Amino acid sequence: MLFSTLVTALGLASSAHAWGQLGHKTVANVALQFLQPGVRDSLNAILAADGQKRLPNPSIVDVATWPDDFSHSPEGKWTKEYHFIDAKDDPPFRCGVDMSRDCHGPGGCVVTAIANYTNQLVHPSRNVNETAQALKFVVHFLGDITQPLHTESLARGGNDIMVKWNGEKKRLHGVWDTNVITKLVGPDDANSLTSWTNAIVNEVKNGMYKDAVPEWLSCSDINDAVNCATQWAIDTNKLICDYVLKTDPEGKELSGSYYRGAAPIIQQQVAKGGVRLASWLNQIFGAAQEGSHSLSGQDGLVLQAPEIEY
Ligand SMILES: *[C@@H]1O[C@H](CO)[C@@H](O)[C@H](O)[C@H]1NC(C)=O
Ligand SMILES: *[C@@H]1O[C@H](CO)[C@@H](O)[C@H](O)[C@H]1NC(C)=O
Repeated sequence: MLFSTLVTALGLASSAHAWGQLGHKTVANVALQFLQPGVRDSLNAILAADGQKRLPNPSIVDVATWPDDFSHSPEGKWTKEYHFIDAKDDPPFRCGVDMSRDCHGPGGCVVTAIANYTNQLVHPSRNVNETAQALKFVVHFLGDITQPLHTESLARGGNDIMVKWNGEKKRLHGVWDTNVITKLVGPDDANSLTSWTNAIVNEVKNGMYKDAVPEWLSCSDINDAVNCATQWAIDTNKLICDYVLKTDPEGKELSGSYYRGAAPIIQQQVAKGGVRLASWLNQIFGAAQEGSHSLSGQDGLVLQAPEIEY
């Protein structure tokens, strides 16, 4: 029900960031709602000690889009390929991810980047800036890996597929990153972030996502990061054949019926990213007890974050 209210909300802003700024911030904000006690403090302590980003009240929400800015800067160019995996499959006929075929960049791909930076959080460097950077990457890449076009090589992840959005020429990739979210939720501001986070958290706790959460977390083990991130990429990449490129969108107007099919998919993907990120951070920073592993098991989420705030 919340979802249908959101569907009617219109927003006109647009921006040029992967999974849109609002998408990444919402992944982080959803994750914050499911952290075990003390974990948020650990995250904030790392961010507060990071000289590059001195904020009065640092939060993973504030740094969720930093890796996009960094990869577009000269000194961060080397991190570009960490944001995706270029599945060379054959959509819409055959989808699939093959690590040896698809994760080929000199530095790897989003799957190996998740494993690398997870490992750096588990074994933190003496240099807190490096640990903070690893945290920002983990927060961001667990979002990117749920964006279907970040798991597809065709037309550079849909960047070269030109479509229309309210009559304007757009790239398919950008429509999935930003335009659908803006139309569904509103512009990238604090109100949109809070209302979308609330809607998603409610669906996870009591609504349409509740029964799916164990499946979303069926592979969620920081000690098996390459395998689990590969499973996530496969799960995301299926959507390319099931919806994104099922019928050729080239040149089509996507703000109507295509939007109505895409919006629930995107909301679900953002929810998945948030829930998996919470489970991941709880494993890394939570109490090192048996209990902390319950999140990755069949018992579903431990829900203990009462307040939702930005
Ligand atoms: C972290 O980065 C800040 C700003 O770039 C710098 O002032 C500080 O010395 C760095 N800290 C470490 C431990 O490298
Ligand atoms: C792991 O992260 C470090 C630090 O950013 C980087 O230098 C290295 O190339 C990364 N390795 C892989 C395989 O991604």
